[in-house]
Amino acid sequence: SKSPNTSSSSSSSASFDELPRETWWENVDLYECDGFWYGLSHLVAAMKAQSSFKARDDDVLLASSMKTGTTWLKALIPCIMDPYARLVNDYDDGYQDPVIQSHPNELIPPLEIQIFAQNSTYDISGMPSPRLFRTHLPYSKLPESIKSPGNSKIVYITRNPKDTFVSLWHFFNSIRTVEQGQLPLIQMFDKFCNGVHAFGPFHDHVLEYWKESVKRPEKILFLKYEELKRDPRGEVKKLALFLERPFGKEEEVDKVLWRCSFERLKNLEVNRNGVDPWAGFSKTAYFRLGVVGDWKNSLTEEMKERLDQITSKKMEGSGLDL
Ligand code: A3P
Repeated sequence: SKSPNTSSSSSSSASFDELPRETWWENVDLYECDGFWYGLSHLVAAMKAQSSFKARDDDVLLASSMKTGTTWLKALIPCIMDPYARLVNDYDDGYQDPVIQSHPNELIPPLEIQIFAQNSTYDISGMPSPRLFRTHLPYSKLPESIKSPGNSKIVYITRNPKDTFVSLWHFFNSIRTVEQGQLPLIQMFDKFCNGVHAFGPFHDHVLEYWKESVKRPEKILFLKYEELKRDPRGEVKKLALFLERPFGKEEEVDKVLWRCSFERLKNLEVNRNGVDPWAGFSKTAYFRLGVVGDWKNSLTEEMKERLDQITSKKMEGSGLDL
């Protein structure tokens, strides 16, 4: 597969015209570059990030495919990093709970949507350390300075592909009018199975981070949504340790988990109204059901079989079970 010619200093879309292109749905086109599919604006931003992002030793990057539970981590990571979020009660000593102040999307800026988006004026050089970023880019497309050895850390979260797909379908339906109706489930599913979706193929995305996390566990922490749901205390302790912010007391773990719990976040004023200015989705769309296994309500047995087969074939020999 091809890489776009980015030799010109302006990231014009002209050089992207040679890339394989497919319609995801209606007027949403994706471009294939080095084995992954991107919306054009994300690809342009990825190129800009590759050429200009300078990682700091204490940067933390939250990486994921879309709809794998990233929002939970967008809240958990800032709370783990904030010494007060684990100690105080709401409003104690005038404490400003980060998740009461801001939607999780605002707590961690995305590389390819906000920071390196076209015409962005976002200043990352002035951000105090430790800087927190997030991305949906595959590992192979990350800026080299993030990947290079050093202390900058990557937290990756993935999820069962059936739930991921169903969550993705609902997410895009959330921006459609009643007249437009829901996106066609069968066609969207077919594209997902073929890897044609933003930052897809899903399985390749997962495998790239998985393999790197096996090689460099100190660099990449690989998390699963289902494990976080099953054993939130254990997983959040693991996360805090990885971020070099281990918990002192069990109560601290409870406080952080409570602060970032689905029910609490979903009902906070800051998450109930308005639209995410970067991605254009309503702020509520990031909190739908928050359960494991909801795919059963949308996928047929035949669809389940098809995706399960793809998953087991792709994961074969990797040591990863999805
Ligand atoms: P569902 O659509 O299955 O409900 P992402 O954050 O990567 O976009 O993923 C979104 C999914 O994570 C949605 O799944 C959403 O409901 C769920 N989610 C968001 N916040 C959560 C939280 N605090 N705890 C558990 N799940 C959460």
